[in-house]
Amino acid sequence: MVSPSNFCHVVFRTHHFDEMVDWYLNVLEAEASHRNDQYCFMTYDDEHHRVAIINLGPPPAGSDGRIAKGGPGVAHVAYAWRNIDELIHTYKRLKARGILPVRPIRHGITLSMYYDDPDGNNLEFQIDVLDADLANRYMQTAGFAANPPGELFDPEELIARYESGEPFDDLIFRSDQPEAKGRRFHRGGKETLPVRSMVMA
Ligand SMILES: [Fe+2]
Repeated sequence: MVSPSNFCHVVFRTHHFDEMVDWYLNVLEAEASHRNDQYCFMTYDDEHHRVAIINLGPPPAGSDGRIAKGGPGVAHVAYAWRNIDELIHTYKRLKARGILPVRPIRHGITLSMYYDDPDGNNLEFQIDVLDADLANRYMQTAGFAANPPGELFDPEELIARYESGEPFDDLIFRSDQPEAKGRRFHRGGKETLPVRSMVMA
């Protein structure tokens, strides 16, 4: 079996080229690695481009040129941050620019906030809350099968509780998840969440 080694980039076509380019450069804190009137390639790490935008020109007459929601195609593209501090930092930075998540969800495997770009493409900004092995095992549980999407949360409440110094197990896990009451994670000291061993329900 020879599967791909990496997921490299995503490319959007748009009728709102400048607006989309500005949004992605800002939201991802990216830099344009090449930009002209037709294309913008942008990078935020050691890959030459992670996102590219293609200019379709003005929308056709009678259309706003935004995408229709809920139809066939890509539902969302997901990006991970390194820890909850980075996710909260990004939430606050975007909120200050009037960009708010359309759906914040505790998935059980990730804590996720979904954003719409100017065209209506949906992005998921997440942190992993379980290591890969535990996440795979959690997805086999009856609890996950009963409710794969998870539960909504209020980012402002989560941030207030986090910043008050609360241990954050209750903040990052679903309320029906055994980890939610474990209180094993505490603030400070770790760049990434610690690997934990536990009995899965
Ligand atoms: Fe997702």
